[in-house]
Amino acid sequence: MNFVEKCILVGFALAINSWATSAPLTSTTDDAVPENVLNCATVMFSQPSVKFMHKLRPSDPSALLSVKDLPEGLRWNSRRNLVEGSIDKEGEYGYTIVVVHDSDTVEVPVSLTVSSALQQPVPFMGWLSWNVVQSEISSEVVRTVADAMVESGLADAGYKYLVIDDLWHAPVRELITGKPLPDAAKFPEGMGACADYVHSRGLKFGIYSDAAEETCAKAYGSYGFENIDADQYADWGVDLLKYDYCGAPAERDSALVRYKAMGDALKATGRDILFYMCEWGERQPWKWGTRTGATCWRATGDTRDGWRGKDGGVGIVESVAGMKDLWPYSGVNRFNDADMMCVGIHGTGKSSNDLVESPGMTMTEYATQFAIWCMWSSPLTLSFDLRNPINPDDLALITNPELIAINQDRMGQAAEFLFENSDGVQLYAKDLENGDVAVAVLNMSDQPHPFTIDISEIPALESGKSYHVRDLMKRCTLPDVINRMEAGELAPHETRVFRLSER
Ligand code: GLA
Repeated sequence: MNFVEKCILVGFALAINSWATSAPLTSTTDDAVPENVLNCATVMFSQPSVKFMHKLRPSDPSALLSVKDLPEGLRWNSRRNLVEGSIDKEGEYGYTIVVVHDSDTVEVPVSLTVSSALQQPVPFMGWLSWNVVQSEISSEVVRTVADAMVESGLADAGYKYLVIDDLWHAPVRELITGKPLPDAAKFPEGMGACADYVHSRGLKFGIYSDAAEETCAKAYGSYGFENIDADQYADWGVDLLKYDYCGAPAERDSALVRYKAMGDALKATGRDILFYMCEWGERQPWKWGTRTGATCWRATGDTRDGWRGKDGGVGIVESVAGMKDLWPYSGVNRFNDADMMCVGIHGTGKSSNDLVESPGMTMTEYATQFAIWCMWSSPLTLSFDLRNPINPDDLALITNPELIAINQDRMGQAAEFLFENSDGVQLYAKDLENGDVAVAVLNMSDQPHPFTIDISEIPALESGKSYHVRDLMKRCTLPDVINRMEAGELAPHETRVFRLSER
Protein backbone atom coordinates (compact mmCIF):
# COMPACT_ATOMS: atom_id res chain seq x y z
CA MET A 1 0.00 0.00 0.00
CA ASN A 2 1.46 3.39 -0.92
CA PHE A 3 1.31 6.57 1.17
CA VAL A 4 -1.74 8.02 -0.58
CA GLU A 5 -3.69 4.79 -0.11
CA LYS A 6 -2.74 4.71 3.58
CA CYS A 7 -3.96 8.29 4.05
CA ILE A 8 -7.27 7.51 2.40
CA LEU A 9 -7.76 4.49 4.63
CA VAL A 10 -6.96 6.44 7.77
CA GLY A 11 -9.39 9.15 6.64
CA PHE A 12 -12.01 6.52 6.03
CA ALA A 13 -11.54 4.99 9.48
CA LEU A 14 -11.83 8.41 11.14
CA ALA A 15 -14.87 9.35 9.11
CA ILE A 16 -16.93 6.29 10.00
CA ASN A 17 -16.45 6.92 13.71
CA SER A 18 -19.07 9.59 13.89
CA TRP A 19 -21.78 11.24 11.88
CA ALA A 20 -21.11 14.56 13.52
CA THR A 21 -18.39 15.78 11.24
CA SER A 22 -19.17 19.04 9.57
CA ALA A 23 -15.82 19.20 7.81
CA PRO A 24 -16.07 18.35 4.13
CA LEU A 25 -14.55 15.07 2.98
CA THR A 26 -11.70 15.76 0.63
CA SER A 27 -11.38 12.50 -1.26
CA THR A 28 -13.42 11.62 -4.31
CA THR A 29 -13.39 7.85 -4.01
CA ASP A 30 -16.50 5.79 -3.41
CA ASP A 31 -14.95 4.03 -0.44
CA ALA A 32 -13.96 7.25 1.32
CA VAL A 33 -17.63 8.03 1.88
CA PRO A 34 -18.76 6.94 5.35
CA GLU A 35 -21.28 4.14 5.07
CA ASN A 36 -23.60 5.82 7.52
CA VAL A 37 -23.85 8.88 5.26
CA LEU A 38 -24.37 7.71 1.67
CA ASN A 39 -24.90 4.37 -0.04
CA CYS A 40 -24.11 5.26 -3.63
CA ALA A 41 -21.25 5.86 -6.04
CA THR A 42 -19.38 9.16 -6.03
CA VAL A 43 -16.91 8.46 -8.84
CA MET A 44 -18.93 9.06 -11.99
CA PHE A 45 -18.44 8.96 -15.76
CA SER A 46 -20.34 10.20 -18.76
CA GLN A 47 -19.97 10.69 -22.48
CA PRO A 48 -20.06 14.23 -23.90
CA SER A 49 -23.56 15.42 -24.87
CA VAL A 50 -25.13 12.17 -23.63
CA LYS A 51 -27.71 12.44 -20.85
CA PHE A 52 -26.18 11.74 -17.46
CA MET A 53 -27.99 10.64 -14.31
CA HIS A 54 -26.62 10.17 -10.79
CA LYS A 55 -29.04 8.84 -8.18
CA LEU A 56 -28.06 9.67 -4.62
CA ARG A 57 -29.00 7.42 -1.74
CA PRO A 58 -28.61 8.54 1.89
CA SER A 59 -27.87 5.69 4.28
CA ASP A 60 -30.59 6.97 6.57
CA PRO A 61 -33.75 7.67 4.53
CA SER A 62 -34.59 10.55 6.87
CA ALA A 63 -31.42 12.48 5.90
CA LEU A 64 -31.92 15.48 3.61
CA LEU A 65 -29.89 15.72 0.42
CA SER A 66 -28.95 18.59 -1.83
CA VAL A 67 -26.04 19.34 -4.15
CA LYS A 68 -23.91 22.41 -4.78
CA ASP A 69 -21.25 23.55 -7.25
CA LEU A 70 -22.97 21.76 -10.14
CA PRO A 71 -21.18 22.26 -13.46
CA GLU A 72 -23.14 23.94 -16.25
CA GLY A 73 -25.47 21.48 -17.96
CA LEU A 74 -26.40 19.56 -14.80
CA ARG A 75 -29.33 20.21 -12.47
CA TRP A 76 -30.57 18.85 -9.15
CA ASN A 77 -33.87 16.95 -9.14
CA SER A 78 -34.94 17.26 -5.51
CA ARG A 79 -38.10 15.18 -5.98
CA ARG A 80 -36.03 12.16 -6.98
CA ASN A 81 -32.74 12.92 -5.23
CA LEU A 82 -30.75 12.80 -8.44
CA VAL A 83 -28.43 14.89 -10.58
CA GLU A 84 -29.26 14.94 -14.30
CA GLY A 85 -28.41 16.75 -17.50
CA SER A 86 -25.54 16.58 -19.95
CA ILE A 87 -22.14 18.16 -20.44
CA ASP A 88 -20.90 18.81 -23.96
CA LYS A 89 -17.21 19.31 -23.33
CA GLU A 90 -14.83 16.55 -22.30
CA GLY A 91 -13.00 17.08 -19.03
CA GLU A 92 -12.82 16.43 -15.29
CA TYR A 93 -15.74 17.93 -13.37
CA GLY A 94 -17.04 17.73 -9.83
CA TYR A 95 -19.83 18.75 -7.51
CA THR A 96 -20.67 18.40 -3.85
CA ILE A 97 -23.40 16.38 -2.18
CA VAL A 98 -24.68 17.96 1.03
CA VAL A 99 -26.17 15.47 3.48
CA VAL A 100 -28.05 16.88 6.47
CA HIS A 101 -28.93 14.47 9.25
CA ASP A 102 -30.50 15.81 12.46
CA SER A 103 -28.31 18.86 13.03
CA ASP A 104 -25.19 17.44 11.36
CA THR A 105 -24.01 18.24 7.86
CA VAL A 106 -21.54 16.26 5.77
CA GLU A 107 -20.30 17.41 2.39
CA VAL A 108 -19.25 14.67 0.00
CA PRO A 109 -17.26 15.43 -3.15
CA VAL A 110 -18.18 13.76 -6.44
CA SER A 111 -15.85 13.42 -9.42
CA LEU A 112 -17.29 13.28 -12.92
CA THR A 113 -15.15 12.35 -15.91
CA VAL A 114 -16.71 13.32 -19.23
CA SER A 115 -14.94 11.56 -22.07
CA SER A 116 -15.62 10.09 -25.48
CA ALA A 117 -12.87 7.50 -24.84
CA LEU A 118 -14.26 5.67 -21.82
CA GLN A 119 -13.18 2.05 -21.50
CA GLN A 120 -16.76 0.77 -21.08
CA PRO A 121 -19.40 3.40 -21.92
CA VAL A 122 -22.08 0.66 -22.03
CA PRO A 123 -21.88 -2.88 -20.59
CA PHE A 124 -19.73 -5.15 -22.75
CA MET A 125 -21.38 -8.07 -24.55
CA GLY A 126 -19.71 -11.31 -25.55
CA TRP A 127 -19.00 -14.97 -24.93
CA LEU A 128 -16.78 -16.61 -22.29
CA SER A 129 -15.35 -20.09 -22.62
CA TRP A 130 -15.52 -21.27 -19.02
CA ASN A 131 -18.97 -22.74 -18.39
CA VAL A 132 -18.94 -25.33 -21.15
CA VAL A 133 -15.47 -25.46 -22.70
CA GLN A 134 -13.16 -25.24 -19.68
CA SER A 135 -9.82 -27.00 -20.37
CA GLU A 136 -10.79 -27.80 -23.98
CA ILE A 137 -10.06 -24.19 -24.96
CA SER A 138 -7.88 -24.02 -28.10
CA SER A 139 -7.36 -21.87 -31.15
CA GLU A 140 -9.61 -24.25 -33.06
CA VAL A 141 -12.41 -23.58 -30.56
CA VAL A 142 -11.73 -19.85 -30.79
CA ARG A 143 -11.98 -19.90 -34.60
CA THR A 144 -15.16 -21.98 -34.56
CA VAL A 145 -16.79 -19.76 -31.93
CA ALA A 146 -15.73 -16.56 -33.74
CA ASP A 147 -17.30 -17.86 -36.96
CA ALA A 148 -20.47 -18.87 -35.10
CA MET A 149 -20.74 -15.47 -33.41
CA VAL A 150 -20.64 -13.76 -36.79
CA GLU A 151 -22.70 -16.20 -38.83
CA SER A 152 -25.49 -16.62 -36.26
CA GLY A 153 -26.09 -12.87 -36.05
CA LEU A 154 -24.85 -12.67 -32.44
CA ALA A 155 -22.10 -10.23 -33.42
CA ASP A 156 -24.58 -7.98 -35.22
CA ALA A 157 -26.78 -8.07 -32.11
CA GLY A 158 -23.83 -6.66 -30.11
CA TYR A 159 -21.93 -9.71 -28.80
CA LYS A 160 -18.45 -8.56 -29.80
CA TYR A 161 -16.03 -9.89 -27.16
CA LEU A 162 -14.78 -13.48 -27.45
CA VAL A 163 -13.07 -14.19 -24.12
CA ILE A 164 -10.90 -17.22 -23.44
CA ASP A 165 -11.14 -18.05 -19.75
CA ASP A 166 -8.80 -20.16 -17.59
CA LEU A 167 -6.49 -22.94 -18.83
CA TRP A 168 -5.12 -21.45 -22.06
CA HIS A 169 -1.67 -21.49 -20.46
CA ALA A 170 1.51 -23.50 -21.06
CA PRO A 171 2.70 -25.34 -17.91
CA VAL A 172 5.27 -22.57 -17.26
CA ARG A 173 6.20 -19.12 -18.52
CA GLU A 174 9.04 -18.54 -20.98
CA LEU A 175 12.09 -19.33 -18.86
CA ILE A 176 14.43 -16.43 -19.65
CA THR A 177 11.99 -13.56 -20.16
CA GLY A 178 9.16 -14.65 -17.86
CA LYS A 179 6.67 -13.86 -20.63
CA PRO A 180 3.36 -15.71 -20.60
CA LEU A 181 3.10 -18.58 -23.07
CA PRO A 182 -0.01 -20.36 -24.30
CA ASP A 183 -0.24 -24.14 -24.28
CA ALA A 184 1.50 -25.09 -27.54
CA ALA A 185 -0.78 -28.05 -28.22
CA LYS A 186 -3.93 -25.96 -27.76
CA PHE A 187 -2.62 -22.86 -29.54
CA PRO A 188 -0.08 -24.16 -32.08
CA GLU A 189 -0.24 -20.92 -34.10
CA GLY A 190 0.37 -18.79 -30.98
CA MET A 191 -1.97 -16.38 -29.20
CA GLY A 192 -1.28 -13.41 -31.48
CA ALA A 193 -2.51 -15.30 -34.56
CA CYS A 194 -5.56 -16.40 -32.63
CA ALA A 195 -6.35 -12.78 -31.70
CA ASP A 196 -5.75 -11.75 -35.32
CA TYR A 197 -8.35 -14.24 -36.47
CA VAL A 198 -10.88 -12.93 -33.97
CA HIS A 199 -10.19 -9.39 -35.13
CA SER A 200 -10.48 -10.42 -38.78
CA ARG A 201 -14.07 -11.42 -38.01
CA GLY A 202 -14.81 -7.96 -36.64
CA LEU A 203 -14.75 -9.17 -33.02
CA LYS A 204 -12.68 -8.31 -29.95
CA PHE A 205 -10.44 -10.74 -28.10
CA GLY A 206 -10.38 -11.23 -24.32
CA ILE A 207 -8.07 -13.26 -22.10
CA TYR A 208 -7.98 -14.37 -18.45
CA SER A 209 -5.50 -14.25 -15.59
CA ASP A 210 -5.38 -14.08 -11.80
CA ALA A 211 -3.92 -11.73 -9.17
CA ALA A 212 -1.93 -14.52 -7.45
CA GLU A 213 0.74 -17.08 -8.28
CA GLU A 214 -1.89 -19.46 -9.68
CA THR A 215 -5.26 -19.09 -11.38
CA CYS A 216 -8.39 -20.78 -10.03
CA ALA A 217 -7.69 -23.85 -12.17
CA LYS A 218 -3.99 -23.83 -11.15
CA ALA A 219 -2.34 -22.37 -14.22
CA TYR A 220 0.27 -19.66 -13.57
CA GLY A 221 -1.15 -16.31 -12.43
CA SER A 222 0.11 -12.76 -12.98
CA TYR A 223 1.13 -11.70 -9.47
CA GLY A 224 4.60 -10.11 -9.74
CA PHE A 225 4.42 -10.35 -13.55
CA GLU A 226 1.82 -7.63 -14.14
CA ASN A 227 3.90 -5.47 -16.49
CA ILE A 228 5.33 -8.38 -18.45
CA ASP A 229 1.88 -9.88 -18.88
CA ALA A 230 0.13 -6.63 -19.77
CA ASP A 231 2.81 -5.89 -22.40
CA GLN A 232 2.45 -9.35 -23.87
CA TYR A 233 -1.34 -9.11 -23.94
CA ALA A 234 -1.07 -5.77 -25.74
CA ASP A 235 1.38 -7.30 -28.26
CA TRP A 236 -1.02 -10.16 -28.88
CA GLY A 237 -3.84 -7.69 -29.51
CA VAL A 238 -5.88 -8.44 -26.40
CA ASP A 239 -8.91 -6.14 -25.90
CA LEU A 240 -10.16 -7.35 -22.47
CA LEU A 241 -8.64 -8.91 -19.39
CA LYS A 242 -10.77 -10.86 -16.91
CA TYR A 243 -8.68 -10.81 -13.73
CA ASP A 244 -9.56 -13.44 -11.14
CA TYR A 245 -8.65 -13.58 -7.43
CA CYS A 246 -8.11 -17.22 -6.46
CA GLY A 247 -5.13 -17.78 -4.16
CA ALA A 248 -4.79 -14.10 -3.23
CA PRO A 249 -5.03 -12.55 0.27
CA ALA A 250 -8.53 -12.10 1.63
CA GLU A 251 -8.37 -8.48 2.81
CA ARG A 252 -9.73 -5.70 0.68
CA ASP A 253 -6.53 -3.61 0.89
CA SER A 254 -4.42 -6.33 -0.70
CA ALA A 255 -7.06 -6.83 -3.37
CA LEU A 256 -7.01 -3.12 -4.16
CA VAL A 257 -3.21 -3.09 -4.43
CA ARG A 258 -3.11 -6.24 -6.58
CA TYR A 259 -5.90 -5.12 -8.92
CA LYS A 260 -4.41 -1.65 -9.23
CA ALA A 261 -1.01 -3.12 -10.14
CA MET A 262 -2.58 -4.84 -13.11
CA GLY A 263 -4.83 -1.89 -13.96
CA ASP A 264 -1.78 0.39 -14.05
CA ALA A 265 0.18 -2.10 -16.13
CA LEU A 266 -2.62 -2.33 -18.67
CA LYS A 267 -2.88 1.45 -18.85
CA ALA A 268 0.89 1.73 -19.35
CA THR A 269 0.68 -0.40 -22.51
CA GLY A 270 -1.24 2.37 -24.23
CA ARG A 271 -3.68 -0.20 -25.68
CA ASP A 272 -7.39 0.09 -24.92
CA ILE A 273 -7.86 -3.04 -22.80
CA LEU A 274 -11.11 -3.39 -20.87
CA PHE A 275 -10.25 -4.39 -17.29
CA TYR A 276 -12.78 -6.77 -15.75
CA MET A 277 -12.34 -7.67 -12.06
CA CYS A 278 -13.49 -11.04 -10.78
CA GLU A 279 -13.32 -11.29 -6.99
CA TRP A 280 -16.97 -12.45 -6.76
CA GLY A 281 -18.23 -9.39 -4.87
CA GLU A 282 -16.57 -10.62 -1.69
CA ARG A 283 -14.89 -7.29 -0.87
CA GLN A 284 -17.62 -5.00 -2.25
CA PRO A 285 -15.66 -4.05 -5.39
CA TRP A 286 -18.44 -1.62 -6.40
CA LYS A 287 -16.95 0.68 -3.72
CA TRP A 288 -13.32 0.63 -4.87
CA GLY A 289 -13.18 -0.96 -8.32
CA THR A 290 -12.79 2.35 -10.18
CA ARG A 291 -9.55 3.00 -8.25
CA THR A 292 -7.91 0.02 -9.94
CA GLY A 293 -8.72 1.11 -13.48
CA ALA A 294 -11.43 -1.55 -13.80
CA THR A 295 -14.76 -0.68 -15.37
CA CYS A 296 -16.77 -3.73 -14.28
CA TRP A 297 -16.54 -6.23 -11.49
CA ARG A 298 -18.20 -9.51 -10.68
CA ALA A 299 -20.75 -8.95 -7.92
CA THR A 300 -21.54 -12.60 -7.14
CA GLY A 301 -20.05 -16.08 -7.18
CA ASP A 302 -20.09 -18.21 -10.33
CA THR A 303 -23.56 -18.61 -11.85
CA ARG A 304 -24.97 -22.11 -12.11
CA ASP A 305 -27.44 -23.45 -14.62
CA GLY A 306 -30.45 -23.61 -12.31
CA TRP A 307 -33.18 -21.50 -10.72
CA ARG A 308 -31.93 -22.16 -7.19
CA GLY A 309 -28.39 -23.05 -6.19
CA LYS A 310 -27.54 -25.58 -3.51
CA ASP A 311 -24.61 -25.73 -1.07
CA GLY A 312 -23.63 -22.13 -1.83
CA GLY A 313 -24.20 -22.33 -5.60
CA VAL A 314 -25.54 -19.26 -7.39
CA GLY A 315 -28.76 -19.94 -9.27
CA ILE A 316 -31.09 -17.14 -10.38
CA VAL A 317 -32.43 -16.82 -6.82
CA GLU A 318 -28.95 -16.12 -5.46
CA SER A 319 -28.05 -13.79 -8.36
CA VAL A 320 -31.14 -11.72 -7.58
CA ALA A 321 -30.27 -11.63 -3.87
CA GLY A 322 -26.72 -10.51 -4.69
CA MET A 323 -27.55 -7.91 -7.35
CA LYS A 324 -30.88 -6.26 -6.60
CA ASP A 325 -29.68 -3.66 -4.08
CA LEU A 326 -26.40 -2.76 -5.80
CA TRP A 327 -27.95 -0.44 -8.39
CA PRO A 328 -26.78 2.84 -6.70
CA TYR A 329 -23.19 1.73 -7.35
CA SER A 330 -23.63 1.09 -11.07
CA GLY A 331 -23.31 3.65 -13.85
CA VAL A 332 -21.53 4.46 -17.07
CA ASN A 333 -18.03 2.89 -17.09
CA ARG A 334 -18.64 1.20 -13.70
CA PHE A 335 -20.92 -1.81 -14.09
CA ASN A 336 -21.82 -4.52 -11.59
CA ASP A 337 -21.44 -7.87 -13.35
CA ALA A 338 -23.83 -10.73 -12.58
CA ASP A 339 -21.52 -13.27 -14.34
CA MET A 340 -22.07 -15.41 -17.41
CA MET A 341 -25.67 -16.13 -18.31
CA CYS A 342 -26.54 -19.82 -18.53
CA VAL A 343 -29.20 -19.28 -21.21
CA GLY A 344 -28.58 -21.81 -23.98
CA ILE A 345 -26.72 -24.33 -21.83
CA HIS A 346 -29.78 -26.49 -21.00
CA GLY A 347 -27.91 -28.59 -18.47
CA THR A 348 -25.03 -29.52 -20.81
CA GLY A 349 -22.36 -27.40 -19.13
CA LYS A 350 -19.38 -28.32 -16.96
CA SER A 351 -18.85 -26.10 -13.88
CA SER A 352 -22.28 -24.53 -14.45
CA ASN A 353 -23.78 -27.93 -13.54
CA ASP A 354 -22.24 -27.94 -10.05
CA LEU A 355 -24.07 -26.77 -6.94
CA VAL A 356 -27.62 -26.94 -8.37
CA GLU A 357 -30.35 -29.50 -7.74
CA SER A 358 -30.80 -30.53 -11.36
CA PRO A 359 -28.91 -28.55 -14.01
CA GLY A 360 -30.91 -26.76 -16.69
CA MET A 361 -33.77 -24.26 -16.59
CA THR A 362 -37.10 -23.75 -18.31
CA MET A 363 -37.33 -21.20 -21.13
CA THR A 364 -39.32 -18.99 -18.74
CA GLU A 365 -36.38 -19.04 -16.31
CA TYR A 366 -33.77 -18.41 -19.02
CA ALA A 367 -35.91 -15.50 -20.25
CA THR A 368 -35.97 -14.13 -16.71
CA GLN A 369 -32.19 -14.39 -16.55
CA PHE A 370 -31.74 -12.51 -19.81
CA ALA A 371 -34.33 -9.85 -18.99
CA ILE A 372 -33.06 -9.12 -15.51
CA TRP A 373 -29.38 -8.99 -16.63
CA CYS A 374 -30.56 -6.38 -19.18
CA MET A 375 -32.39 -4.44 -16.46
CA TRP A 376 -29.39 -4.49 -14.11
CA SER A 377 -27.05 -3.17 -16.84
CA SER A 378 -24.86 -6.19 -16.25
CA PRO A 379 -22.39 -7.07 -18.98
CA LEU A 380 -24.19 -9.61 -21.19
CA THR A 381 -21.97 -12.66 -21.44
CA LEU A 382 -23.05 -15.89 -23.07
CA SER A 383 -21.41 -19.15 -22.12
CA PHE A 384 -23.17 -21.95 -24.02
CA ASP A 385 -21.46 -24.15 -26.58
CA LEU A 386 -21.27 -22.17 -29.81
CA ARG A 387 -19.60 -25.10 -31.57
CA ASN A 388 -23.09 -26.58 -31.96
CA PRO A 389 -26.07 -25.11 -33.85
CA ILE A 390 -28.00 -22.56 -31.77
CA ASN A 391 -31.54 -23.41 -30.75
CA PRO A 392 -33.80 -20.82 -32.49
CA ASP A 393 -35.71 -19.99 -29.27
CA ASP A 394 -32.45 -19.26 -27.46
CA LEU A 395 -31.23 -17.14 -30.36
CA ALA A 396 -34.46 -15.13 -30.47
CA LEU A 397 -34.21 -14.47 -26.72
CA ILE A 398 -30.57 -13.37 -26.62
CA THR A 399 -30.85 -11.21 -29.74
CA ASN A 400 -34.10 -9.47 -28.72
CA PRO A 401 -33.14 -5.94 -29.85
CA GLU A 402 -35.58 -4.18 -27.55
CA LEU A 403 -34.18 -5.85 -24.43
CA ILE A 404 -30.59 -5.37 -25.60
CA ALA A 405 -31.36 -1.68 -26.20
CA ILE A 406 -32.26 -1.16 -22.54
CA ASN A 407 -29.06 -2.93 -21.44
CA GLN A 408 -26.97 -0.83 -23.82
CA ASP A 409 -28.73 2.45 -22.99
CA ARG A 410 -26.08 5.17 -22.93
CA MET A 411 -27.26 6.64 -19.62
CA GLY A 412 -25.99 3.43 -18.00
CA GLN A 413 -28.57 3.28 -15.18
CA ALA A 414 -29.04 -0.05 -13.43
CA ALA A 415 -32.68 -0.78 -12.67
CA GLU A 416 -33.78 0.54 -9.32
CA PHE A 417 -35.18 -2.27 -7.17
CA LEU A 418 -38.43 -0.85 -5.79
CA PHE A 419 -39.90 -3.67 -3.71
CA GLU A 420 -40.94 -7.30 -3.43
CA ASN A 421 -44.61 -7.80 -2.49
CA SER A 422 -45.99 -10.47 -0.20
CA ASP A 423 -46.53 -12.80 -3.21
CA GLY A 424 -42.82 -12.69 -4.00
CA VAL A 425 -43.25 -10.42 -7.06
CA GLN A 426 -40.46 -7.86 -7.48
CA LEU A 427 -40.74 -4.49 -9.20
CA TYR A 428 -37.82 -2.74 -10.92
CA ALA A 429 -37.57 0.50 -12.96
CA LYS A 430 -34.73 1.60 -15.23
CA ASP A 431 -34.42 5.19 -16.44
CA LEU A 432 -33.45 5.45 -20.11
CA GLU A 433 -31.63 8.19 -21.99
CA ASN A 434 -34.65 9.35 -24.02
CA GLY A 435 -36.80 9.72 -20.89
CA ASP A 436 -38.57 6.37 -21.30
CA VAL A 437 -38.67 3.99 -18.35
CA ALA A 438 -38.28 0.20 -18.51
CA VAL A 439 -40.40 -1.47 -15.83
CA ALA A 440 -39.84 -5.13 -14.94
CA VAL A 441 -41.99 -7.41 -12.80
CA LEU A 442 -40.33 -10.63 -11.69
CA ASN A 443 -42.21 -13.45 -10.02
CA MET A 444 -39.67 -15.06 -7.67
CA SER A 445 -42.26 -17.42 -6.21
CA ASP A 446 -43.09 -20.97 -7.26
CA GLN A 447 -46.77 -20.04 -7.74
CA PRO A 448 -48.48 -17.97 -10.46
CA HIS A 449 -49.47 -14.47 -9.35
CA PRO A 450 -51.29 -11.58 -11.00
CA PHE A 451 -49.63 -8.17 -10.68
CA THR A 452 -50.84 -4.62 -11.20
CA ILE A 453 -48.27 -1.88 -11.69
CA ASP A 454 -49.22 1.22 -9.72
CA ILE A 455 -47.56 4.15 -11.49
CA SER A 456 -47.41 6.15 -8.23
CA GLU A 457 -44.97 3.55 -6.84
CA ILE A 458 -42.42 4.24 -9.59
CA PRO A 459 -40.55 7.51 -8.94
CA ALA A 460 -39.48 7.80 -12.58
CA LEU A 461 -43.14 7.99 -13.69
CA GLU A 462 -45.93 10.39 -12.77
CA SER A 463 -49.52 9.67 -11.81
CA GLY A 464 -52.09 11.25 -14.11
CA LYS A 465 -49.84 11.11 -17.16
CA SER A 466 -50.61 8.90 -20.13
CA TYR A 467 -47.96 6.37 -21.20
CA HIS A 468 -47.45 4.45 -24.41
CA VAL A 469 -46.46 0.84 -23.56
CA ARG A 470 -44.25 -1.68 -25.39
CA ASP A 471 -44.06 -5.24 -24.09
CA LEU A 472 -40.35 -5.94 -24.59
CA MET A 473 -40.56 -9.70 -24.03
CA LYS A 474 -43.44 -10.29 -26.44
CA ARG A 475 -42.37 -7.39 -28.66
CA CYS A 476 -45.80 -5.89 -29.13
CA THR A 477 -47.52 -2.60 -28.31
CA LEU A 478 -50.13 -2.57 -25.55
CA PRO A 479 -52.91 -0.03 -24.90
CA ASP A 480 -51.80 3.25 -23.30
CA VAL A 481 -51.97 3.45 -19.51
CA ILE A 482 -52.68 6.10 -16.86
CA ASN A 483 -52.07 5.47 -13.14
CA ARG A 484 -52.33 1.67 -13.25
CA MET A 485 -51.27 -1.08 -15.56
CA GLU A 486 -52.24 -4.75 -15.45
CA ALA A 487 -49.09 -6.81 -15.90
CA GLY A 488 -51.29 -9.93 -16.15
CA GLU A 489 -50.78 -13.24 -14.41
CA LEU A 490 -47.10 -14.07 -14.06
CA ALA A 491 -46.16 -17.74 -14.26
CA PRO A 492 -43.78 -18.99 -11.54
CA HIS A 493 -40.30 -17.46 -12.15
CA GLU A 494 -41.58 -15.35 -15.04
CA THR A 495 -40.43 -11.80 -15.80
CA ARG A 496 -42.24 -9.22 -17.90
CA VAL A 497 -40.60 -6.02 -19.09
CA PHE A 498 -42.48 -2.99 -20.37
CA ARG A 499 -41.10 0.20 -21.88
CA LEU A 500 -43.22 3.21 -20.98
CA SER A 501 -42.97 6.42 -23.00
CA GLU A 502 -44.76 9.59 -22.06
CA ARG A 503 -47.48 10.53 -24.57
C1 GLA B 1 -13.37 -18.62 -11.07
C2 GLA B 1 -14.19 -17.58 -11.83
C3 GLA B 1 -14.89 -18.24 -12.99
C4 GLA B 1 -13.86 -18.88 -13.92
C5 GLA B 1 -12.99 -19.86 -13.14
C6 GLA B 1 -11.82 -20.36 -13.97
O1 GLA B 1 -14.18 -19.56 -10.48
O2 GLA B 1 -15.12 -16.99 -10.97
O3 GLA B 1 -15.68 -17.31 -13.70
O4 GLA B 1 -13.08 -17.87 -14.50
O5 GLA B 1 -12.47 -19.25 -11.97
O6 GLA B 1 -10.99 -21.21 -13.24
